[in-house]
Amino acid sequence: MKKLLFFISVSCGILFAQDKMFSTGVKPLYLDATSSKVVGKLLPTTEVTILKKEGDRVLLSIEGYAPAGENIALYFVPNKRILNAGFSKNSGVKFEKIGSTNADGKAFDKLKVQVWSENTDLSDDVKPLFAQAKDLFDQNCSMCHGLHQPKEFSANQWPSMFKSMAGRTGIDKKDYQLVIQYLQKNAKDMPTK
Ligand code: HEC
Repeated sequence: MKKLLFFISVSCGILFAQDKMFSTGVKPLYLDATSSKVVGKLLPTTEVTILKKEGDRVLLSIEGYAPAGENIALYFVPNKRILNAGFSKNSGVKFEKIGSTNADGKAFDKLKVQVWSENTDLSDDVKPLFAQAKDLFDQNCSMCHGLHQPKEFSANQWPSMFKSMAGRTGIDKKDYQLVIQYLQKNAKDMPTK
């Protein structure tokens, strides 16, 4: 009996598994499985859930925070500009409110969207992505001066600080957002993992 129950729960687990994945790069987002109109961008290392597959696309559920009443971007945490996904104005994307919270005296909504993207550049493990970002940062940003640590700047300071220096390095433009995510998520105002 125990074995049977185990078998049933395992098979159901597989059938209804909602795959948690992480984007490995900047991914275009669409309203449906076929349209070529890009309505938003998903940022690397953002956790998403794959709801279904159709052709070469997947329907993704993406969550994040936004200042109360705003629905143009989803942020990793309230009140820091660490982007999970950004959308164009009047994108047609439906934002579902799944919670609300306060941070630094301001009100934030927790939002969820369902959007489509290509079934590529997704990984079930985020650790190698951060390791790759750390390597890029450590190797390229210590050539002219000592390495500045992620904890030296806040999550909101890092994007412009990084961009002001990145052009002096060999870091590929396509990897900028990956390194920025690593720096922001390990910034001095983020909890140490
Ligand atoms: C080609 C040499 C070079 C490389 C590569 C380089 N830097 Fe710099 N960095 C400098 C110089 C020179 C300064 C002194 C100020 C200036 O020129 O802007 C500086 C200053 C800084 C400062 C101090 C700025 C301040 O206001 O206190 C930080 C932080 C910094 N770099 C971060 C980085 C990061 C992050 C990278 C990798 C993306 C990087 N640097 C790569 C040359 C470099």
